[in-house]
Amino acid sequence: MHTPGTLFTGIGQLVTNDPGVRSLTGTARLGIVEDAALLVTDGVVTWVGPAASLPTAEAAALAVADAEVVDLEGAAVIPGFVDSHTHLVFGGDRAAEFEARMSGQAYTAGGIRSTVAATRAATDAELAARLDGFVTELLAQGTTTFEIKSGYGLTVADEARLLELASRVTDETTFLGAHVVPVEFAADPEAYVDLVVGNMLDACAPHARWIDAFCETGAFTPEQSRRILEAGTARGLGVRLHASQLSAGPGIRLAVELDAASVDHCTYLTEDDIAALAGSSTVATLLPGVEFSTRQQFPDARRLIDAGVTVALASDCNPGSSFTSSLPFCIAVAVRDMGMTPAEALWSATAGGAAALRRADVGHLAAGASADFVALRAPSYVHLAYRPGVPLAAGVWRAGARVA
Ligand code: NIG
Ligand code: FE
Repeated sequence: MHTPGTLFTGIGQLVTNDPGVRSLTGTARLGIVEDAALLVTDGVVTWVGPAASLPTAEAAALAVADAEVVDLEGAAVIPGFVDSHTHLVFGGDRAAEFEARMSGQAYTAGGIRSTVAATRAATDAELAARLDGFVTELLAQGTTTFEIKSGYGLTVADEARLLELASRVTDETTFLGAHVVPVEFAADPEAYVDLVVGNMLDACAPHARWIDAFCETGAFTPEQSRRILEAGTARGLGVRLHASQLSAGPGIRLAVELDAASVDHCTYLTEDDIAALAGSSTVATLLPGVEFSTRQQFPDARRLIDAGVTVALASDCNPGSSFTSSLPFCIAVAVRDMGMTPAEALWSATAGGAAALRRADVGHLAAGASADFVALRAPSYVHLAYRPGVPLAAGVWRAGARVA
């Protein structure tokens, strides 16, 4: 039966990310409406605009149907965050590695193997309970869409079970069998790549929407990465790639060549990388939690944005390089240390994340979009960066239903 809908009123400032014009920069791209109202029917936004201009027909229909009205009492409302890069199915943690790093040790790709050992040792029930806890944590902070990668199993059975667990909580699942070469294949990495593109891909493709690889010294070469990503494409998976996290290399250009939806990290950028990204539909996903937690240089978001590259911000939540699930934290760091304005950072953590997942239904609040939004305990979105570390999500709705 058609429901009358719910009218959200008392929105002091509404960020729609719907400026009507794609190329606007600065705050204009947020499509802000002051003193706004939002009408939600069957989980979808059906009208948005200044409260005073709610069409008479809609207002009358709502009154007749005795529709629910929710007064948000002047709060700023933003689209739900879209976290396009996480690794949330794993066992153990690496607090000791973090502590050693903060005493001067460098981050290397090899640390992944200790999480692989802990993950293989964990039962499905243990991994699922942990994952459920992370989902609660994400929702409470306003993240309503999230991607999850495998990559801490690295056997056919373990990668498949991680993806099966992830697919219970999100449609955005990514097969990352090529995270690092596991110890048992250390003497013959090519044999591991054969396994990834063979039996492992067979077992994992049914549970995955995307394929990813870690193209970096200490992980996979550009040639190996290309082979793995092309095998995924042949199975109908979309492409994403971890590249240029620890040093510059050809990974970003490889991602663009393969029409990846996103290339992630982009910490070390060359002029050629930026030119390639600027002429492409590949999003550059920046992960401020990584540089924060590994004490590396931050990527230069300003250079990318000024060149016309679409930038997303994501958490990369994982036990090694970035154990935060908070996109408000990432926004604050991106504004402080990566040359982004508060408006650009918010756009990148919402609409940018949606672009990185090639999703048109989330990351914005226009008629037809999923009703995913966050009421902030603040009068303006600027507070996300202005009040770092303060939990500002007062209420969170996904597909029109309150989830936190
Ligand atoms: O995105 N770069 C590769 N993978 C993760 C790190 C995983 C780990 O250290 O466990 C990342 O940073
Ligand atoms: Fe990652």
